[in-house]
Amino acid sequence: MTQEKVYKIALIPGDGIGPDIVTAACEVLDKAAGRFGFRLEYEELLAGGAALDASGEPLPQYTVEAAKGADAVMLGAVGGPKWDTLPTALRPEKALLGLRSSLGLFANLRPARMFPALVAQSPLRPEITAQGMDIMIVRELTGGIYFGEQGRSGRGEERKAYDTEAYSYPEIVRIARIAFGLAQGRNKQLTLVDKANILTTSQLWREVVKEIAPEYPDVQLDYLYVDNAAMQLVKRPYSFDVILTSNMFGDILSDEAAQITGSIGLLPSASLGLPGKPGMYEPIHGSAPDIAGQNKANPLATILSAAMLLRLSLGEEDAAAAIEDAVTKVLADGYRSPDLLAPGETAQEGMLLGTLEMTSAVLAAL
Ligand code: IPM
Ligand code: MG
Repeated sequence: MTQEKVYKIALIPGDGIGPDIVTAACEVLDKAAGRFGFRLEYEELLAGGAALDASGEPLPQYTVEAAKGADAVMLGAVGGPKWDTLPTALRPEKALLGLRSSLGLFANLRPARMFPALVAQSPLRPEITAQGMDIMIVRELTGGIYFGEQGRSGRGEERKAYDTEAYSYPEIVRIARIAFGLAQGRNKQLTLVDKANILTTSQLWREVVKEIAPEYPDVQLDYLYVDNAAMQLVKRPYSFDVILTSNMFGDILSDEAAQITGSIGLLPSASLGLPGKPGMYEPIHGSAPDIAGQNKANPLATILSAAMLLRLSLGEEDAAAAIEDAVTKVLADGYRSPDLLAPGETAQEGMLLGTLEMTSAVLAAL
């Protein structure tokens, strides 16, 4: 008899709607596992505001150790008004940065894809959205200004603060190789977004990316300054394939790309480190504390993140594709969560679903 495959998943529900959507994703994962012949074992861990309340720190050491020992990490969301007045070092967001850096998750993959059923949701004009959009943003996640030296001094009118951005060759080359590799498996087009007309870090990014480009002759490489990139994204979103960029530029552009798809409630993400190490998967939206625990949150971004987990960390491609197909079908069938309605749009009778009902719809389609 062949042994059933068992994977260990570290679950970090976090705050706000985090527990609602992570529970939903686990149900879908379990159903996919049953169908494709493997099993998932979960360990629930604390991080963010939930951890602050329980232990006084946003990222307990135990959470880091247990996450490192898992095959993959699934995260809901962290943060909320309750903890907003805490000093920076104690804010729930610190847990996120701490997890990224302690797990070495330098590559953040943020696919922004327009769902045909939802084009009316996009703030862009129909003649632009009609051309579709399928962008993979590859954001550097453990370096740059998020992790550079910072400081503050003085009082009153003498107050000063600074943040610094530093990047080294190894940090750039490893993320660039991931972006080139992804482009090879997609439309073979890579855009490096930077501010090389001003920043020396950006100049180094261009230099390094140019140096390794000949190793990927099938990929067409171009460059955009970040201000122009922000503009081109709304002007011609359909013409991008893979976007490679630094930590802060990726943070900004991924929100812009998400809004173009019209539905931040649908966008998943993967954060990856070295091969063989656990990746972390989370929706790109936040913790939406105002609707927490009310069966209102859209679970689809987390469910799609679970699909990325199956594909990228567990190699369960068939199960991942089945989940993605199920989500596409549920949307094509007209089911909507409140966040997926265009302004002024009302769902068809019986089609407006809460978290639990949307999850059931995906389970049924699976
Ligand atoms: C994101 C978020 C985080 C970031 C915050 C919550 C620290 O905006 O994942 O995009 O800036 O990286
Ligand atoms: Mg962000």
